[in-house]
Amino acid sequence: MSKVTVVGSGFVGATVAQLLADKDIADVCLVDVIDGMPQGKSLDMMQAAAVHGFDRKLVGSNDYADTKGSDIVVITAGIARKPGMSRDDLLKTNANIVQTVARETVKHSPDAIFIVVTNPLDVMTYLTWKTTKLPASRVIGMAGVLDSARFQTFIAMETGFSVQDVRAMVLGGHGDLMVPLTRCATVNGVPIANFLSKEKIDEMVKRTQNGGAEIVALLKSGSAYYAPGSSVVQMVEAILKDQNRLLPCAVLADGDYGLKDVYIGLPTVLGREGVKRIVELKLEKEEAELLKKSADSIKENIDLMNKLLVAV
Ligand code: APR
Repeated sequence: MSKVTVVGSGFVGATVAQLLADKDIADVCLVDVIDGMPQGKSLDMMQAAAVHGFDRKLVGSNDYADTKGSDIVVITAGIARKPGMSRDDLLKTNANIVQTVARETVKHSPDAIFIVVTNPLDVMTYLTWKTTKLPASRVIGMAGVLDSARFQTFIAMETGFSVQDVRAMVLGGHGDLMVPLTRCATVNGVPIANFLSKEKIDEMVKRTQNGGAEIVALLKSGSAYYAPGSSVVQMVEAILKDQNRLLPCAVLADGDYGLKDVYIGLPTVLGREGVKRIVELKLEKEEAELLKKSADSIKENIDLMNKLLVAV
């Protein structure tokens, strides 16, 4: 029986836990610093089991000892973005939280694969890799699946076709500099340029890049959690079921796409050992330049984070 620990039992964490149990993917240990909250949420979800008829166990805890032997650790602990706050404003607070969580969880689950959700995503994934000292193939950031889902949703909304037939991939950092691969986006294999004007596509790219902020502005407090939760669960399922799915994830570039020493969204093959490989696509000049710009911005933030952590 697979076990997934979710640290941070707020909106994203709880959504992940519920979906994992509901889809019969894994038993879940929900952890949070708030006393009683993960216990209350997991008991509530167990009672939903009586209605839905799933047999998965959910346990809530404030003690990392209960996370022992997890196959996957999902880190959602941190503070969420508030209106007007950029993802990078979150850097200092969330770096301290993620460092603590990574250190504590890896002690109890040295064989786990880590999926990081806390923002700023690429930098927090890098920090988790550094802190756990695990092979990079076992520390992965969730952003590309979510950004691609957003792009796919907008394509379906604009064309009127079922979202089930829309495929698209977004690379780069999880920020304003993400790189939606518009020429690879299709409706059941037909490139979207057959259905949409260049202006419309450019508009959708901007909306995708601003996808998180659009929801933050509407919610007024907190940030998105349904689509982020679903995206994490797709990655967990791909790993536990060894599906070899080709999904864009934040991974350590080690010369791939001409990038080095940076976590950034690239097409990866996910399976039981985590990242099986990074798939190198032939990018057009403009796409490669955008990816490089995105990587430079992440690197600046990694440097800034290193300074902030030393200063604490
Ligand atoms: N250890 C464990 N849990 C913690 C810690 C910690 N050191 N610090 C904070 N938390 C918990 C909070 O108590 C809270 O329950 O993390 C949870 C975060 O939940 P929310 O505030 O509801 O935030 P959420 O919407 O779930 O977003 C979490 O994911 O998408 C990103 O930008 C988002 O970084 C944010 C993260």
